[in-house]
Amino acid sequence: MIVTTAQLFKHAYGKYAVGAYNINNAEQAMGLFKGAIDSQAPFIIQISKGARKYTDKKMLEAIIRAADEIFPEAIFAVHLDHGDEETCYDCINSGFYSSVMIDASHDPFDQNVAITKRVVEAAHKKGISVEAELGMLGGVEEDIKVEEGNACLTDPDEAQEFVKLTGCDSLACAIGTSHGAFKFKGKQSLHFDVLQKIKDRLPGYPLVMHGSSSVPQDEVARINAAGGQIKDSMGVDVNEYLPAAKLGVTKINIDTDGRLVWTRVHREFFRDKPGDFDFRPAGKIFIDEYAKFIASRNKLLGSAGQLEGVRASLG
Ligand code: G3H
Ligand code: 13P
Ligand code: ZN
Repeated sequence: MIVTTAQLFKHAYGKYAVGAYNINNAEQAMGLFKGAIDSQAPFIIQISKGARKYTDKKMLEAIIRAADEIFPEAIFAVHLDHGDEETCYDCINSGFYSSVMIDASHDPFDQNVAITKRVVEAAHKKGISVEAELGMLGGVEEDIKVEEGNACLTDPDEAQEFVKLTGCDSLACAIGTSHGAFKFKGKQSLHFDVLQKIKDRLPGYPLVMHGSSSVPQDEVARINAAGGQIKDSMGVDVNEYLPAAKLGVTKINIDTDGRLVWTRVHREFFRDKPGDFDFRPAGKIFIDEYAKFIASRNKLLGSAGQLEGVRASLG
């Protein structure tokens, strides 16, 4: 059942984080739904601009509608990840999305405010909520690469002002994470001090953490043992998800880790069966492995076991 992102946030706030997972194809959708049901968790499906272009935006909608029928127990929201203004309007007008993200975080503050405000106005007319971003994560997202030196943490005072000026429903904050598989050099922690200050200025307000993949080192080792060359990768400490959730982080975005599962499964499969060319056996393994991964992440986010509570809260 597709619900609003606001309904999921209301149940989760301050207790656990809802996992927001990107999908691009049917196998990812199957693994995601299976893992969510296995762990009895609500979730958010994210569709990026790149995902909408990969096959066709209509294809992903159809896959999600089909998955909803295959897994009638599931409770989830559908979200546009890292949208520009034009894509936000397209999703708002499609009638399919629960929420959109307008990402004007690379623009100066005033411009970010102006763009976000326009999107909020259009979205709220249709009952859709809006995630915006303030501060800048490092790493690569879509076609934008932010060098580490240019990444900057969200200023708590600016965050308060930004929410007041724009009326956005949730805010993606930069608190030390970055997109992709190369987040830190050496071990680093989230900036809980900054997060605490943002929460103090925006009590009860849902915050979002992008770039939250953990980049499991055993996964990377298996990929490299099967011919991959992923070097110096590093992710977020999974034990920091729940403490962040208690400080208002209500949505945690995980995409890269799913790509690593896909890469490991397929590299190992074709390494071990070099004569095979039917992609379905490998695809089947991926669906099961991705389902296990999703269930494991939902446990760490605290969303596992919340499904019935969410259902009851919907009235
Ligand atoms: O933050 C970006 C997400 O990981 C989506 O990646 O734009 O390559 O689909 P993508
Ligand atoms: P990761 O690259 O850490 O998976 O982050 C995903 C993300 O933030 C999607 O918006
Ligand atoms: Zn992101």
